[in-house]
Amino acid sequence: MRTVYVNGEYLPENEAKVSIFDRGFLMADGVYEVTSVLDGKLIDFDGHAVRLQRSLNELDMANPISKEDLLEVHRELVRLNGIEEGMIYLQITRGAPDDRDFAFPDPEKTPCTVVLFTQNKPGLANNPAALKGMKVISIDDIRWGRRDIKTVQLLYPSMGKMMAKKAGADDAWMIEDGFVTEGTSNNAYIVKGNKIITRALSNDILHGITRAAVLRFAKEAQMEVEERNFTIEEAREADEAFITSASTFVMPVVEIDGVSLGDGTPGHVAPRLREIYLDESLKKAI
Ligand code: PDD
Repeated sequence: MRTVYVNGEYLPENEAKVSIFDRGFLMADGVYEVTSVLDGKLIDFDGHAVRLQRSLNELDMANPISKEDLLEVHRELVRLNGIEEGMIYLQITRGAPDDRDFAFPDPEKTPCTVVLFTQNKPGLANNPAALKGMKVISIDDIRWGRRDIKTVQLLYPSMGKMMAKKAGADDAWMIEDGFVTEGTSNNAYIVKGNKIITRALSNDILHGITRAAVLRFAKEAQMEVEERNFTIEEAREADEAFITSASTFVMPVVEIDGVSLGDGTPGHVAPRLREIYLDESLKKAI
């Protein structure tokens, strides 16, 4: 049984409780982060802590836990649960007032709820899916306009994942005004020759922590990076495609809407970036 963290306490998972009035539960009024663990160490903890603070600021939520304490909780959960490879899920909500109300509660009277738990995933780095590549379908992006804030409002991404499964694919890329925004839980990229193309940062997509690292490593490896919109038609004709996220790192995409990319294998750029990302991130893991 896992040991989880709730509001200052480490508890067995079946004893951890949150109020039915919690605004995370009633209104998706909360933010989250997923940090990966490799070799028992945290990958890019700093990046996740900075984005968490930004999400909280954008929603006018006071951060209830310092970065130092947050790091300590992450490490303690890794230790208590013996995690070598996996993820730490962190969620902070606007807390539990004593009734349901659209207006935000007084933060002096209603402290935020802080929950963290581990997800043990042995073999995450050597995921065989990375050798095969994944299939994606395209769907409309009907999410709200502040996708840069990492809120727990994940119903449409969940539905997108189910649409993909139903179509025999692994994930869905979302399209807005003809252009790909991102995957249901990852950032999306295409490759043409030696050039990596991905949508520029804005309120339309989540500012992926893995994205930032991968683009940096790509530039350091003399690969060309172009941050611009691309259509799904352009993607279907690309040489390669891939996604990035904290839980998949760099994962090749070999098929879009039933159309194979290149020769239908992961290609060269995505596998190389995956290797560089894993090597370099591990060096800096804490
Ligand atoms: N998802 N875009 C969306 C919509 C996401 O949900 C995520 C992350 C990303 C990639 O961000 P990062 O590289 O910081 O993980 C992009 C996490 C992993 C999840 O929901 O499980």
